[in-house]
Amino acid sequence: MTLYAHVVGWGKYVPRHVLTNDELARTVDTTDEWIRERTGIGQRHLAEDDETTASMAIQAARQALDVARLNPARLDLIIVATATPDHVFPATACLIQDALGASHAAAFDLSAGCSGFVYGLSVAANLLTAGAYQTALVIGAETLSRIVNWTDRNTCVLFGDGAGAVILQVGENEGGVLASVLGADGSGGDLLRLPAGGSKIPTSHRSVTDGLHFIEMEGRQVFRFAVRTMPAATREVLAKVGLSPTDLDLLIPHQANQRIIEAAAKSLELSAETVYSNLERHGNTSAASIPIALCEAVEEGRIQPGNLVVAVGFGAGLTWGAAAIRWTRPLPAPLPRWQQFLRRLRYFLARFRSRVRRVRRRLSAHWVRDDLNGREKDV
Ligand SMILES: CC(C)(COP(=O)(O)OP(=O)(O)OC[C@H]1O[C@@H](n2cnc3c(N)ncnc32)[C@H](O)[C@@H]1OP(=O)(O)O)[C@@H](O)C(=O)NCCC(=O)NCCS
Repeated sequence: MTLYAHVVGWGKYVPRHVLTNDELARTVDTTDEWIRERTGIGQRHLAEDDETTASMAIQAARQALDVARLNPARLDLIIVATATPDHVFPATACLIQDALGASHAAAFDLSAGCSGFVYGLSVAANLLTAGAYQTALVIGAETLSRIVNWTDRNTCVLFGDGAGAVILQVGENEGGVLASVLGADGSGGDLLRLPAGGSKIPTSHRSVTDGLHFIEMEGRQVFRFAVRTMPAATREVLAKVGLSPTDLDLLIPHQANQRIIEAAAKSLELSAETVYSNLERHGNTSAASIPIALCEAVEEGRIQPGNLVVAVGFGAGLTWGAAAIRWTRPLPAPLPRWQQFLRRLRYFLARFRSRVRRVRRRLSAHWVRDDLNGREKDV
């Protein structure tokens, strides 16, 4: 029996705070005109002080669960693609698992730069179609504003914060994630990186004063890589399922630069209507860009049941990936009031249960200590 991994839920979250190009031009040597002309970006959303990658991802995940009408306890797997986790460890996916009350889910983070969401989608879809799991939550979430050097005009104009999520569920009907392709070329790792904070350059007074905790990028080289990779990955994933770019209803490219998106569209001979872009409103949100775009495209009615969609990304690593999806779900009706109440209650209980578990763990550690001390005395 052939199994398929269907997209049954989707959600997004972007912080309320918006930074426009004009506002940015007051602090760095740039202009709205330059940014729009060279990148297509008009503004970006930035996390408030109390927002983190996990907190934004939780909002996106809750929305996706609502759309799927799914109890989080039924999730088997949570994958979070991010380059800006809340901590090096524990994984941000585990923080989300706890907050959602997804008590039966395995959870891990995935690092593949801006291609991370497509990597996560591919891993989850393959686990589902292999019969290992029934339901997976795949999230792309970033707080890039925390690793951007706000005095470097070459990079700070590009990035924004946000989160997007999808729920994949196994089914026997044909459709869902039909195929995916993933790739990497580590020889280009130095083109886009965060130099310090890992085992090579641990955080130190020196690493901070040398400014090594900010994104470093060779923009022109990354640009060339992207223009080459996006159309190639799109063609490859379509060929895997015996289709071609002419069969596409919508391309969801990683939102990095409008000129990259247009070059990819031209190479694939796609019309502007067949390519989704929200760069103007969000900038580059790295691993969050594709799920946010996917979610907005569905909400705007640009993706309908039966449509063929390709999500394609590139990013740090260097990495790239594409996934071909046959959409099978219509937009659901808004959640009825009683279900909204149930949802709030569920998340309240998840928080409560998490606290109880923490207290129980502390107490049991205390008892074990007393027990051990007692045994030592006996000896
Ligand atoms: C970064 C990027 C927008 C720069 O655009 P570009 O057309 O390649 O611009 P260049 O790097 O050639 O710079 C052209 C000039 O503009 C200047 N410039 C760079 N950023 C500027 C800014 N924000 N405002 C004004 N001028 C700027 C440069 O200093 C340079 O000046 P110079 O010629 O006097 O040295 C573009 O290369 C890009 O989008 N690359 C891909 C980046 C990306 O996608 N990263 C994320 C990957 S997931």
